[in-house]
Amino acid sequence: MPSITSSTALPATPCYLNGEFTALKDAKISVMDRGFIFGDGVYEVVPVYAGQAFRFAQHMARLDRSLAELRIPNPLSLDQWREVTHKLVNDYALSQHTSPEKIDQLIYIQITRGVALRDHVMPPDLTPTVFAMTNTMKPPTPAQRMHGVACVTADDFRWEKAHIKSTSLLGAVFARQISADVDAVETVMFRDGMLSEAAACNVWVVKNGKVLGPPKDHLVLEGIRYGLIEDICREAGIGFELRRISRAEVFGADELLLSSATKEVLAITSLDGQPIGSGQPGPICARLHAAYQRAKQGLTS
Ligand SMILES: Cc1ncc(COP(=O)(O)O)c(C=O)c1O
Repeated sequence: MPSITSSTALPATPCYLNGEFTALKDAKISVMDRGFIFGDGVYEVVPVYAGQAFRFAQHMARLDRSLAELRIPNPLSLDQWREVTHKLVNDYALSQHTSPEKIDQLIYIQITRGVALRDHVMPPDLTPTVFAMTNTMKPPTPAQRMHGVACVTADDFRWEKAHIKSTSLLGAVFARQISADVDAVETVMFRDGMLSEAAACNVWVVKNGKVLGPPKDHLVLEGIRYGLIEDICREAGIGFELRRISRAEVFGADELLLSSATKEVLAITSLDGQPIGSGQPGPICARLHAAYQRAKQGLTS
């Protein structure tokens, strides 16, 4: 998403707000929106390659799961979401004087409970606020792909409903800042000594040729890459297991990986200043990344 420092810096790129397409700089919501007052909302981030949304149905299914947790009905049907995002992707490319096939984008969708006088209790029957925008995707740099990235660790101090893709992200903001303060790329978190995830990525351990990830429970956000990595491993004959992973196993990994919509699959080669495995991206990372690129070309959505 664009780095925005003041309202004058808001770009005129297209966005969608409550049924209307408008310029991002002109989009306005009420100060009484419960998203603003309580962080009472959910979001999604969908990668778009050459104009085509990747794993769109899975992203929309996760949006439904997050909304269900908040007891907010999905204001749009799957077809309506397809229409909105398709128009945004095309209009955004036009605003950049290019065609959608020539750029990769990242769609951001946010739904809040809507506008009401301030009261913690969830008011029934509010009209949700629906917002979507898109931007040029910023993938990892060639140097990050080649050498992997440095990360740091922290205790997972976020709430215990990490499975909801909620806009209440102060825990994630604090977590990410720990790594930003030391120029590291992500913060790998542990709850009660067991791996959970990073501030905005899932984390994978590779040991003896097998890919290990934390269980899909309330302590992690089930990234859309969870299913994708499992599929790739099954097709490639790479072992795959979800289970609790200790801090010692993370530091003793042969390879350590981040996954997210923007990072795809990216090697962590240093953690808290210690090298992981050989200190360079390993063979399983290379295989997963190559298979990921093939999946993008096939665009399983
Ligand atoms: C906390 C957290 N975990 C994991 C992920 C990765 O999810 P996905 O693969 O769907 O991008 C994200 C993505 O933003 C995240 O915020």
